[in-house]
Amino acid sequence: MLKGKHILLGITGGIAAYKAANLASMLVKLHADVHVIMTKNAQQIISPVVFEALTGNKVADDVFDRNSGYQVAHIAMAQEADVVMIAPASANIIAKLANGIADDMLSTTMLAVTAPVYLVPAMNTHMLEHPATQANIARLKTYGYHIVEPASGFLACGDSGKGKLPEADELVEYLLYEAAYEKDLAGKKVLITAGPTREALDPVRFLTNHSTGKMGYALAKDAVRRGAEVVLVTGPVSLPAPLYAKTVPVTTAQEMYEAVNAHFDGMDIVVMSAAVADYRPSHTAAEKIKKTGNASVLELERTTDILASMSARKNGQFLCGFSMETEHMLENSRAKLAKKNLDMIVANSLRMEGAGFGTDTNIITILTKDHTQELPKMSKDEAAHAVFSQILRLL
Ligand code: CTP
Repeated sequence: MLKGKHILLGITGGIAAYKAANLASMLVKLHADVHVIMTKNAQQIISPVVFEALTGNKVADDVFDRNSGYQVAHIAMAQEADVVMIAPASANIIAKLANGIADDMLSTTMLAVTAPVYLVPAMNTHMLEHPATQANIARLKTYGYHIVEPASGFLACGDSGKGKLPEADELVEYLLYEAAYEKDLAGKKVLITAGPTREALDPVRFLTNHSTGKMGYALAKDAVRRGAEVVLVTGPVSLPAPLYAKTVPVTTAQEMYEAVNAHFDGMDIVVMSAAVADYRPSHTAAEKIKKTGNASVLELERTTDILASMSARKNGQFLCGFSMETEHMLENSRAKLAKKNLDMIVANSLRMEGAGFGTDTNIITILTKDHTQELPKMSKDEAAHAVFSQILRLL
């Protein structure tokens, strides 16, 4: 996803510097060309050898290094960067950048950077909350720096509070947003549903299905990375909220219907990837079971078909459904495409290995009225990308 992208990673002397190794490794796995500048203090915490082994590039730490491989290293490194991230960013580098101080390789290079910069402050809570640090951060925002909010939790100094370096996968998400794809969905409003729904049998038990939400969340991330304005209506899942998407949590099919209905007008693209429970216990059945303790009286009623309801009141939206089939995948999916009057349906078979619930991969077939595109097994991220690429071709 980051092939051909040049990422400059600045590492300063916070204890979280060791976590930057994981970040560098993840970026290399995404095929980025990662170049690292470390401060002298960062090298007290983690050796530059770690980053040289992970990235295959020499770590820069000295403006006057005659063996850097560059003619004027700080200018060349600044100009080559597509995006810059300083993680962890200490109070010291924040103060230097806010005041234009250039007294080492990192601070000097940063003055010459014109690419987008993400600063990830990580330090003791009191240092972070000090008015000087807060004033410096506020000033850096006015210079156009992106500040990634530190996480809260148990800090290395023994205190608890704000100041932790966020997990590497969260930091990678900012870089993917900045550099992974062209913004070919810019200006588009996209509504996505994800995850399962739950229908209560009583205050303790519920009916649900095996959906983990991975496909829907991959769709939301892909749309955000391509510049769309995204609303994600999600059933209960244990996935982190996608960056920059408006996430609307719901539990039941009725709540999902209401959330989709409330956001539907003004959307350009609606993708229903949620595994909505088709049935819920009728109230009377649930009450009867409670009274009698006899589960054989359980009666089910159909939930509202959200997709069909939206299709009936469509006013310009591109409507894409998902279908999960155990047999006759193409015939059943084609029938749903027609019955629900959709622009597209993405079919996947629950019987194929590497497709369906819980896996990180999927095997999808994209169907429209006159076109069938069978895709090989791929990651859910890649499948999501293929879905939006196909939608873009048809818009
Ligand atoms: N869907 C919906 N509301 C429901 C049930 C399904 O919006 N109450 C949507 C799903 O999110 C999916 C599409 O309809 O995008 C097809 O879902 P699926 O369960 O495969 O189809 P059903 O019409 O429910 O048919 P069946 O379960 O009988 O196969």
